[in-house]
Amino acid sequence: MNEHLNFDCFLGKRIHLGVCGSIAAYKSLDLLRMYRKAGIEVSVTLTDGAQEFIRGLSFEALGAFKVWERMFPTMDDTFGHLEPGQAADAMVVVPATASVLARMAHGLADDMLSCQALAFSGRKLVAPAMNPAMWDAPATRDNCRVLAERGVEFVGPDCGDVACGDHGKGRMAPLESIYAAGLRAVAPKDMAGRHVLITLGPTREKWDAVRFWSNPSSGLMGACIAMAAWLRGAKVTVVSGPVNWWFPDDVSVIKVGSAQEMFDACMSVWPECSTGCFTAAVADFKPIPHGAGKFKKDGNVSLKVEFDTNPDILKTVGSMKRDDQQLIGFAAETSNIQESAQGKLERKNLDLIIANPINLPGAGFESSTNSVYVLDRAGRSEEWPNLPKTEIAWRIWDHLLLN
Ligand code: C5P
Repeated sequence: MNEHLNFDCFLGKRIHLGVCGSIAAYKSLDLLRMYRKAGIEVSVTLTDGAQEFIRGLSFEALGAFKVWERMFPTMDDTFGHLEPGQAADAMVVVPATASVLARMAHGLADDMLSCQALAFSGRKLVAPAMNPAMWDAPATRDNCRVLAERGVEFVGPDCGDVACGDHGKGRMAPLESIYAAGLRAVAPKDMAGRHVLITLGPTREKWDAVRFWSNPSSGLMGACIAMAAWLRGAKVTVVSGPVNWWFPDDVSVIKVGSAQEMFDACMSVWPECSTGCFTAAVADFKPIPHGAGKFKKDGNVSLKVEFDTNPDILKTVGSMKRDDQQLIGFAAETSNIQESAQGKLERKNLDLIIANPINLPGAGFESSTNSVYVLDRAGRSEEWPNLPKTEIAWRIWDHLLLN
């Protein structure tokens, strides 16, 4: 599940999708669907090679508002070769074959896609897919270097099995990587220059060899906040409890188990960060371990477990906060939300606190939506309606940047 990628705040943006002749061409249909779901307008150009694998009609049926298949279409579309460059916010070529990379590198304009690429001065992304020998060929290496130097962004290719049965570098990057890179290309870059630390998920406090103390946090809220920061240009470090959200390759993910491990990871990263957002549901208590082995039932009818306290990570980070750093905390509450939030904001030296009731339907743990009360250091408070966690994530950053 990639619920943390379901941003739908890109209304009015447009991506021009270039599709080339590779067996991976069919995957571009899913990419189109994903961009449409995010509110992005999509136009498409299929090369002659792409049309051997897939038809323009499929893209139209899935919501592309314009599909080009030929260099010289009709009299009323005389400037189709220029139109994406004038109107689209980014161009994504997927799959990008050795041939289209060569055309783009050398400025050839002898088919519709190459011509549109040449006339496109905005952000260009390519997701190559080809046989590893073709990828490694000196000509392709040179072409890729030239394109990268000119600012073309490469997504993949990855190592793995390719269609012909060979193994090596040339497999198209996973769709979520291409999708996320496209979203980032059209997102505002208002978080560029920030290094954001995000904690997410539950912690696991071991009691014996097989048992632990934990909670049902999915980590979705934190994953959405991390993705929103990344899309808006921030450098992102995630300290993650035992949950498995996909993140782009340049997000640094530190996996931890216990609260103590999360504490140690945060202590090492926080000094170099500008902004922290602590969404993790950290266990306040840890059972005093029974021992290294497994506790056996045997004749035991009752079990007494003793607990010790865990460090409060956010409070410690708050006490270290410099004037050039900003800190956001979360407060999961069942009652007295506003007073508790106010208390935590002060005690933990926060700039912003997001409080959410965890006993309402559609809010808190394991839910894809949340209802939150937001309070900042200046005393401004807002109550947001029940919203998808991706939307809440986006608004949290808006709020921090504006205030
Ligand atoms: O005090 P409380 O646990 O309700 O505070 C919640 C906030 O503090 C959250 O942002 C949570 O991630 C953080 N926290 C922490 N370390 C703890 C407990 C909570 O970082 N031990």
